[in-house]
Amino acid sequence: MIRLPAPALVRRRAGSPRSSSERQIVFIVSSPQRSSLSEQLLLFGRNFFKHPRMLGSLIPSSRFLVNHVLREVEWDRARVFLEYGPGVGTFTTEILRRMRPDAVLVALETNQDFVRFLGRKLRDERLHVVHGSAADADVALARLKLGHADYIISGIPYTTMPPQLREAILRKTRDVLDPDGAFLVYQFTRAVLPHLQQVFGSVQEEFEPLNVMPARLFYCRHHVGHSNAEGNGGPANGSGRQVSLQPVAPDRTASARSPRLSG
Ligand SMILES: C[S@@+](CC[C@H](N)C(=O)[O-])C[C@H]1O[C@@H](n2cnc3c(N)ncnc32)[C@H](O)[C@@H]1O
Repeated sequence: MIRLPAPALVRRRAGSPRSSSERQIVFIVSSPQRSSLSEQLLLFGRNFFKHPRMLGSLIPSSRFLVNHVLREVEWDRARVFLEYGPGVGTFTTEILRRMRPDAVLVALETNQDFVRFLGRKLRDERLHVVHGSAADADVALARLKLGHADYIISGIPYTTMPPQLREAILRKTRDVLDPDGAFLVYQFTRAVLPHLQQVFGSVQEEFEPLNVMPARLFYCRHHVGHSNAEGNGGPANGSGRQVSLQPVAPDRTASARSPRLSG
């Protein structure tokens, strides 16, 4: 992985000299640490045209969808959150706003533009932005010395990814989900439902019309009697920061290429 000179990017003001390697991302550094809605939309839209199958949507989720999904969370007890595909942080920001001061959020994102953006925009010790695939959820948790996740919130497009990757992610998700945890999925179609049912048994379905496009919500829990009880590893070690992962399983999708370990 190319290590981004993130601190330099954050500090440099518009108009100051820049290297050629920085040039391609200049448009997202003009307003350090603050991002306007138009900046998020521009970044998201630009990446949609580059990786339509990986994003699955032209614009980020609506606040109605965010609120609907997050209604399911028991904020008082949840300590470890995983987010798959945070994008420009629409859910991430709200999870951080609501979660306990001693909780941890690990956000796995394959798109490096979004990883950089989140690293600049969201300064929170409880957040770990990981440049890697949801298929590496177990590695990300282990690297942070965390056990199982209480909630896994997933916005990645399961229907446009290779079937073997989808299966790997769903099975890995079940393995890292706490026995009392929940896997909260939002999609634009019901196509993923049989795959969720195969891995998790019964799945609760909901619908949110106020989103572009209207969204299907699927809430998955372990089968009754499922034993996965190593327990949670508790709060994070160290401060919130960006990390990156070595691939542990082949993830052959375009924007999931070569996630590497950096620390
Ligand atoms: C529909 S967008 C959702 C963005 C944001 N969560 C929202 O609700 O607005 C899907 C996101 O998943 C990311 N993504 C796709 N496949 C992924 C994978 N295997 N692991 C992690 N992130 C992935 C994409 O880069 C993109 O940011």
